[in-house]
Amino acid sequence: MNGSEPLPHSQQAHEQAHQADKQILVSSAAGGLNGQMDVPGDKSISHRSLILAGMAVGRTNIKGLLRGEDVLSTLRAMQQLGVTIIDDADTDSVSVDGVGTGGFISPEAPLDLGNAGTGVRLIMGAVAGQPITAIFTGDESLSARPMRRITDPLAQMGAQIGYQPENDENGLLPVTITGANPVLPLAYAPRVASAQIKSAIMLAGLNARGNTVITEPHISRDHTESMLRHFGVDVQQDILPDGRHQVTLGGEATLTAKDILVPRDPSSAAFAMVAALITPDSDITLPAVGLNPQRTGLITTLSEMGADIVITNERLEGGEPVGDIRVRSSQLTGIEVPAERAASMIDEYPILSVAAACAEGRTFMPGVSELRVKETDRIAVMAEGLKACGVSVTETPDSLTVSGASAITGGACIASQHDHRIAMSFLVLGMVSQTPVTVVDTATIATSFPGFARLMNSAGAHIYAPDAQG
Ligand code: S3P
Repeated sequence: MNGSEPLPHSQQAHEQAHQADKQILVSSAAGGLNGQMDVPGDKSISHRSLILAGMAVGRTNIKGLLRGEDVLSTLRAMQQLGVTIIDDADTDSVSVDGVGTGGFISPEAPLDLGNAGTGVRLIMGAVAGQPITAIFTGDESLSARPMRRITDPLAQMGAQIGYQPENDENGLLPVTITGANPVLPLAYAPRVASAQIKSAIMLAGLNARGNTVITEPHISRDHTESMLRHFGVDVQQDILPDGRHQVTLGGEATLTAKDILVPRDPSSAAFAMVAALITPDSDITLPAVGLNPQRTGLITTLSEMGADIVITNERLEGGEPVGDIRVRSSQLTGIEVPAERAASMIDEYPILSVAAACAEGRTFMPGVSELRVKETDRIAVMAEGLKACGVSVTETPDSLTVSGASAITGGACIASQHDHRIAMSFLVLGMVSQTPVTVVDTATIATSFPGFARLMNSAGAHIYAPDAQG
């Protein structure tokens, strides 16, 4: 067995990351995409696998874990909190020796979560429920994202929260959290349907003396709920008569270690799906992709737009629904995407905008203000980039409207702004542009989809470094 623990962040690694940040990729018109495309493991489930297994009693073996930068940041943070994690790449098995719900140690150094919004927010919740102190930091993009939506409810549960004075109002990293002792049970109704807010509260609530109840305006992805049940925790989910989603978690919980199989990520599959739909003569199959109903809003939307998407071999793997997705080139038509569908496809709006640019007519995407607080302001960055590529776009504070173009001029140079989904979306747009599209800062793609360009090229795309091919 060649088990090896990932190296801690070093000065050298920071330097390399800084250089890699400047990586440029060009995407030019390609024929169709063809064949089988194996996209990597689900990012949401990978973060949760490491965190929940780290809070369980006993050893959990994880297969199919996404080894993307975001998940590796979570892995390192869990190690700093005292959890032993061994990655055996030969057998694709990651073993996690959990320390229980009260066994974290105060880390000596700050927990640097890099670009990982899910990692930082869920671990904040886990730390807030234990009598330890940790400092949380992140990269430039993560340090500009709102954290009060997480720390305000955690403070109500008894945690002490310390921002730097100049960032206190906005709640920006770095933040120091001292866990509550005792943890107070909380009934909380977040303003937005956010799996990160919900999950942070639930992880703190594992040690509460009583039930933690969260009522969200719509159901958001419920991986934390199903995975906690997988580990033997009492979690109930109810859809209330007014359509809200309520989660009730029993306190003073014990997680019992249990192996996990991570499905392939539907949010990564989205890029290959749209690329195949918009390039002529494409016919691809994406095997074993996660099909949790809270993640399949894009498939529903593309199907309504006329996409030829067929799902076969639907089954349960490790408790999650998965299936094989076949996608063939299609003429798409613009639609209005129902606002209440936003939570089930929140990460897919950038690539949906690319599909919309190639559709006949207008695609109206309302109810998407949450896109403004992702790795970038995704409404503004998509609108600006699409316009630079010759596509007509309008935006309001909470909507985006894209008018399909019969020909996309392309030719623009897009800065990803540390946002993996922006980088991949514009590389897909380059595949149907008259002039190649250049994306600067593509190292960020490795946060969720290591090997993206290689996989796309193996199916027929033409994505290359400018010095490799003029
Ligand atoms: C995620 C939840 C979503 C999503 C993010 C992953 C998760 O964020 O955008 O990429 O794994 O819980 P919000 O909870 O802020 O909507």
